[in-house]
Amino acid sequence: MFDPSAYGRAIADVYDDVYGTTIPETSTDAAVDRLEELAEGGPVLEFGIGTGRLALPLVARGLVVAGVEGSAEMTRRLRAKPGGDRVPVTPGDFATTRVEGEFGLVVLAINTIFALPSQDAQVACFRNAAAHLRPGGRFVVEAWVPDPGAFRDGTALRLLTLSEERVLVEAARLSAAEQMMYTTKVNLTSDGLRLLPANHRYAWPAELDLMGRLAGMEREHRWADWNGSPYTDDSRSHVSVYRSPSGRP
Ligand SMILES: C[S@@+](CC[C@H](N)C(=O)[O-])C[C@H]1O[C@@H](n2cnc3c(N)ncnc32)[C@H](O)[C@@H]1O
Repeated sequence: MFDPSAYGRAIADVYDDVYGTTIPETSTDAAVDRLEELAEGGPVLEFGIGTGRLALPLVARGLVVAGVEGSAEMTRRLRAKPGGDRVPVTPGDFATTRVEGEFGLVVLAINTIFALPSQDAQVACFRNAAAHLRPGGRFVVEAWVPDPGAFRDGTALRLLTLSEERVLVEAARLSAAEQMMYTTKVNLTSDGLRLLPANHRYAWPAELDLMGRLAGMEREHRWADWNGSPYTDDSRSHVSVYRSPSGRP
């Protein structure tokens, strides 16, 4: 049984620290710049809004931002930050949860589309995003490009962070038949060791494009990153922008 609160419950107290070491500030700044541009005045709805890494800087720039979030622990962290009380968060699964209003932009960042456990759930998520868009509104998805070649005998170990304060390693198991990647990050600091599990039902960009079409949207852009670098044979992640021509598929 899929539990949309599980990931956040396990990571909320260390989320900002851990992602602070794996996502450079320059990348978050570039994402905020790009989202502000794509929102064309907003309002913005973020699926899996988390602790507000993207939402709070967007609010600081004057945009109205709302969120859907599965984890009460992540929402509490957002609420505790300056400006966090200005972001309405609807609890629930972003594949199906509806929020009042029409939005210029719906955002789903950092591979979180893959947190949904099946193709059906991901298709539902695209449809849910489209249903929130005003005419011409955009749905932005940031995700990695699956790389089964990085696995040996179905497993892989990646060093994500190495400093004098932290060692962050990710152990992963691939099921190519199920299109699933089962991961546990091992976060080692002077406070001790934490295991951070996350499972991903991964999809190639072309499958996401089809989900966009099923939801009545067309892809407008695909970049390799938030700076708008060209998406190429070597790209290991992508930022894809889907647009609803009519706003209502
Ligand atoms: C990797 S974090 C990203 C948080 C934030 N968007 C950011 O960019 O820092 C993923 C967030 O999505 C939430 N989440 C995962 N699956 C969800 C689901 N099906 N419905 C609602 N929230 C979900 C998690 O609780 C977590 O807060």
